[in-house]
Amino acid sequence: MSDSSRRDFLKTSSVAALGATALGALSSGAYAAGEDTVSIGLVGCGGRGTGACAQALKSPGKVRLVAMGDVFRDQLDGSLRNVERNVEKDDTAEIAVAEETKFTGFDAYKQVIDSGIDVVILATPPGFRPMMLEYAVEKGVNVFMEKPVATDAPGVRSVLESARKAKEKGLKIGVGLQRHHQAPYIETIKRIHAGEVGDVRALRVYWNGGGVWDPRKTREECKTEMEYQLRNWYYYNWLCGDHICEQHIHNLDIGNWVMSKDGNLQFPVKANGMGGRQVRIDPKYGEIFDHHAVEYTYADGTVMMSQCRHIRGCWNSVSEAVHCEDGIVNLGGMGRDSFKINRFDGTVAEVKASGKDPYQQEHDDLFGAIREGKEYSEAEYGAMSTMTAILGRMCTYSGKEISMKDALEKGLGIMPPSLEWDAQLPNAPDANGVYAVPVPGVTKVLG
Ligand SMILES: NC(=O)c1ccc[n+]([C@@H]2O[C@H](COP(=O)([O-])OP(=O)(O)OC[C@H]3O[C@@H](n4cnc5c(N)ncnc54)[C@H](O)[C@@H]3O)[C@@H](O)[C@H]2O)c1
Repeated sequence: MSDSSRRDFLKTSSVAALGATALGALSSGAYAAGEDTVSIGLVGCGGRGTGACAQALKSPGKVRLVAMGDVFRDQLDGSLRNVERNVEKDDTAEIAVAEETKFTGFDAYKQVIDSGIDVVILATPPGFRPMMLEYAVEKGVNVFMEKPVATDAPGVRSVLESARKAKEKGLKIGVGLQRHHQAPYIETIKRIHAGEVGDVRALRVYWNGGGVWDPRKTREECKTEMEYQLRNWYYYNWLCGDHICEQHIHNLDIGNWVMSKDGNLQFPVKANGMGGRQVRIDPKYGEIFDHHAVEYTYADGTVMMSQCRHIRGCWNSVSEAVHCEDGIVNLGGMGRDSFKINRFDGTVAEVKASGKDPYQQEHDDLFGAIREGKEYSEAEYGAMSTMTAILGRMCTYSGKEISMKDALEKGLGIMPPSLEWDAQLPNAPDANGVYAVPVPGVTKVLG
C-alpha cells in the first residue's frame, strides 16, 4: 500500500472505530486501534533525538523510521549510525531511511514532516520547537517533542495554540518531561495529592551541577556566526533559553505537578530572582548566566524556591523537596526507584515503585495512545513549565518582580527574524567576539 492509500485506509477504519461524534477530530495523524506500522521521522539528530528515535522504535508494536532531518549532514549521518547500532532490527523495528528521505538545512523539518509519517520526533535546540510543532499540527502529524518547548513567551503562546489545534484534530503530543513517566515520581506525588503528608506549605527545587558540554566548534571552524551559534547552541539564549530553561525546567515542572491537583494545571503567578555570570565568563560561553536563584509564588501563596547553577566545585543537587504540614517529601534523581518522606514526628517512610526507564516509558505511553486512539496531550503542562522557567529567567535578567500574566502576554520575543546561514543575528558579538550579557536593573524583558 502506498503511504497515501494506507493513510486513507486508516482514516476509513477510524470512522468505524470512533463513531460519528469523533469524525470532526479525524486527521491523517489520528489513529484507530490496529496492528499497523507507525511511521516516524526525526528532526534534530543529536544525542537526545537519537535516543528518542531508538526508544520510539523499541515501543510495543511495529515502528518504522523513514525520514531524518538536521541542519547539519554530519549530525544526521552520525545519528543514523547510532540508531542502527542501538536498535536490534526485528519484525517490529524497521529502519528504512533512504538517501531521498535524509534532509538537511533549515527546512529539513518540513520535508521530514511531509514524508508521509505518523509521528515526528522534534529534538532540535528548543528555540525552533514552536515553529516545528505548528507545522506538524497543520499537517496532521502526531508529535513527540523534547523539553523545553520554547525559549520565549511568543514561542510558548504559539505552543499553547498548537496544542489547542492538535486536540481539535485528535492528534497526540508527548513532551520529554520524563519524570511524569517515572514510577516513584508518579506514586509519591499521588500520595502528596491524597493528603498523606498534609497540605503543601512550600517547595524547594534544584539543578545545581557543573554544567554541560564545552563549545564544540571554534569560530574559525564555522563559516558564519549562525553556524557557530548552532554548533554551540547551549550558550545562546534564542536557541537554548539559558540553563534555567534548558535543564532546570525538569525540577520546576515537578513543582507545578505537585501544585496541580485533580487535573487543575497550576503554575506560579509571579516570581522574583537574582542571577549572573561569575565563573563561566569566557566569550566562548556566549551570553547565558551560570547561576539563577528564583522565588516563585503560586496563586494560593505557596512559595517555590529554585536554584540552578553551572559552576564546578560547588554543592550539587538535582532534586525537589516538598514541605508539607506533617513532613518533608524528598524527590529527585533519575534512575531511582524510591523516595523518602521525612515526617516531623521523626519517622521516615520510603515510597518505592519500580518501572521501566522513563525515557522508554514515555514513548510506550505516547505510541500506545496513538495506536488506541486515546486522547493524549502533554503540551499544555510542557508549555507552562517552559514558561515557568522563562519567567524565572526574565526575573534574573531584569532584576524585577514579574507576574506570569505579564510575562506570558508581554514577554519579548528573542528569536531572529529569519533563519539563513548568513542571517544577521540580534545577539551578534562585538568586534572582539564578546557577547552582551544581561544586566539586572537595566535589561528589558517586557514589551
Ligand atoms: N528529556 C531529557 O532528559 C533530555 C536530555 C537531553 C536533551 N534533551 C533535550 O533535547 C533537545 C536536544 O538536545 P541534545 O542534547 O540532543 O542536543 P544536540 O546538540 O546533541 O542535538 C541537537 C541537534 O539538532 C540539530 N539542529 C539544530 N538546529 C536545527 C534545525 N533548525 N533543524 C534541524 N536540526 C537542527 C543539531 O545540528 C543537532 O544535531 C534539547 O531541547 C534538550 O533540552 C532532553
